[in-house]
Amino acid sequence: MATYDLVVIGTGPGGYVCAVRASQLGMKVAVVEKNATLGGTCLNVGCMPSKALLHASEMFEEAGHSFAKMGVSVSSPKLDLPAMMNFKQQGIDGNVKGVEFLMKKNKVDVLKGTGKILGTGKVEVSADGKSQTIETKNIVIATGSDIARLKGIEIDEKRVVSSTGALSLDKVPGKLLIVGAGVIGLELGSVWKRLGAEVVVVEFLDRILPGMDGEIAKQFQRILEKQGFAFKLGAKVTGVDTSGKTLKATVEPAAGGAAETIEADIVLVCIGRVPYTDGLGLKEAGVALDNRGRVQIDPHFATSLKGVYAIGDVVAGPMLAHKAEDEGVAVAEIIAGQAGHVNYDVIPGVVYTTPEVSAVGKTEEELKQAGVAYTVGKFPFTANGRSKVNQTTDGFVKILADAKTDRVLGVHIIGIEAGEMIHEACVLMEFGGSAEDLARTCHAHPTRSEAVKEAALAVGKRAIHM
Ligand code: FAD
Ligand code: NAI
Repeated sequence: MATYDLVVIGTGPGGYVCAVRASQLGMKVAVVEKNATLGGTCLNVGCMPSKALLHASEMFEEAGHSFAKMGVSVSSPKLDLPAMMNFKQQGIDGNVKGVEFLMKKNKVDVLKGTGKILGTGKVEVSADGKSQTIETKNIVIATGSDIARLKGIEIDEKRVVSSTGALSLDKVPGKLLIVGAGVIGLELGSVWKRLGAEVVVVEFLDRILPGMDGEIAKQFQRILEKQGFAFKLGAKVTGVDTSGKTLKATVEPAAGGAAETIEADIVLVCIGRVPYTDGLGLKEAGVALDNRGRVQIDPHFATSLKGVYAIGDVVAGPMLAHKAEDEGVAVAEIIAGQAGHVNYDVIPGVVYTTPEVSAVGKTEEELKQAGVAYTVGKFPFTANGRSKVNQTTDGFVKILADAKTDRVLGVHIIGIEAGEMIHEACVLMEFGGSAEDLARTCHAHPTRSEAVKEAALAVGKRAIHM
């Protein structure tokens, strides 16, 4: 008799959510975690600490630059970095405790140690030189991802850092060189820029935020440049000389050509993340990987080994916490004999900068490439009443709809609170709604969300306030 119905390896947003859902469905569940705390990358060194620092640094920036124009006169704010880091840590601790509470509440056993799959139904858990073998009917691999490294550049997490080191710097760097203009580079670049660093971003491609709608990315780049970001696009860092007091990075055009040297106090390498499968014993157990080192799964999250499933960053798809969570719920339901499902066409993405960038569905570039005939409705925040009174008018809403059926295929927003505003588009798209459906839905006034309604009206060329 197996001890458990389900053992989940990893307690990030994929793993712990899967465990809770499985317990709700009546399974006896254990989670295995090698880290000292639960919650995975997201809670410990990812989503949550970065959002705490983004919030705190934004308040610092606002107090210094935006209060006066509203008639709020304060003396120039002073940065207490250790206190800000403490604020971040309190946020991490609170969330980690929350996951511990959820495990208890749902009667999920927490097994501390490194999990290794010995075969169908068998997981070895090792900690402090001791190991035990757990028997279980089903196993879910939710071991997440790790930072991608650049050949020849050693990350010491002090001067040459990954996101983990960049979330815990003990002083504001004079100059921060960021390799990669993706989500991490722009979010953590924003944090340190607001706190006083000079920020230079080197990006391999000729644009920032690959994967996001091109028009949005262009406007975003202009806004970031106004904030003081410097971008070197179409370029790559090929080495960092750490011998002197100041770091010397060698930067070459991506297409080849003469190299230049950029000096910096800190270099942040954020060129993506890779699936994490170390120590899981997958090869020996017979769990196949795909050509990019991700655990290979079928449409029901089943791996090549019977009774073993995988979800989250360790499998294909966007490396996002909410994608991992939804897969955790779906796989638990499938194991319980239900019809668990994730709609990969409606997974929102948000960049939590100021302004925020959010998106769901197809970009204009993707529709063009697929040969889909589409209509575009756009509405700028400069024409939205609430944004005008708050003087937060940067950005716009863009809606892409099928030219024939009017079904909404993609929504892209750049602007303050874009990350909250995207969800009405998600609900609409989940129900296969049209731009007209959105345009005829009453929106409270005065809200920034009225810009979403106006963009939907603009698809039918009948925006009111423009
Ligand atoms: P993880 O969260 O990586 O968790 C995996 C867990 O498995 C870890 O706790 C690990 O210790 C454990 N583990 C691994 N191997 C073993 C083993 N053999 N035995 C036992 N335990 C093991 N996503 C968003 O959606 N929004 C954001 O704002 C956001 N911000 C981010 C900011 C940063 C700086 C970073 C780095 C990432 C961010 N992400 C964000 C991405 C997000 O963190 C991941 O998509 C998410 O954590 C993936 O969840 P997961 O459960 O698949 O894996
Ligand atoms: P990313 O994939 O978002 O961006 C990496 C960038 O680095 C790309 O623009 C890429 O073209 C560039 N690049 C790659 N190699 C390079 C090189 N040699 N030189 C210069 N540039 C190079 O990856 P990032 O920012 O590291 O984030 C990792 C993951 O974490 C992402 O998949 C993201 O989904 C997730 N994340 C999500 C957040 C959110 O949802 N708000 C926040 C932070 C991370």
